[in-house]
Amino acid sequence: MKNKESSVFDCKLISLPKIHNTSGNITALENITSVSFDIKRVYYLYDVPSNAERGGHTHYKLEQFLVAASGSFDVVLADGTQERLVSLNRPDRALHIIPGIWRELKNFSGGSICLVLASLAYDENDYIRNYSDFIEWKSQR
Ligand code: TYD
Repeated sequence: MKNKESSVFDCKLISLPKIHNTSGNITALENITSVSFDIKRVYYLYDVPSNAERGGHTHYKLEQFLVAASGSFDVVLADGTQERLVSLNRPDRALHIIPGIWRELKNFSGGSICLVLASLAYDENDYIRNYSDFIEWKSQR
């Protein structure tokens, strides 16, 4: 787990297990085997207006798996040096966001659901919500 030194390219797209069935598929996620951290919290974004932007922060310690459980959206990652845009549009794919990465979520399709698996309980002290503060923190290597 990095934080200050984290690069956007340390955030990986992960193929999730898929149990195929003509009546509908299943993806089951378990600690350690399919998710590389201990899951402490699960939450999901829904009813997001198409013009809304979410995120706009980084975390000191939190790791997350983001999944487009329904529909699609874009994730813009930044590390103070480089930016990377990742489109999520499949329920069997996750984006692993490590600590120390700025993220913005946008271009939500109608009815989309962003499922988030998180390594820690909610803690406002784990956030940097100001981009200038983030850049300054990243530069203190
Ligand atoms: P935030 O993490 O900024 O949402 P997003 O990154 O999706 O834009 O959280 C938005 C608000 O919800 C903020 O007031 C904190 C609150 N919140 C909780 O109380 N618990 C949680 O687990 C999360 C993720 C957010």
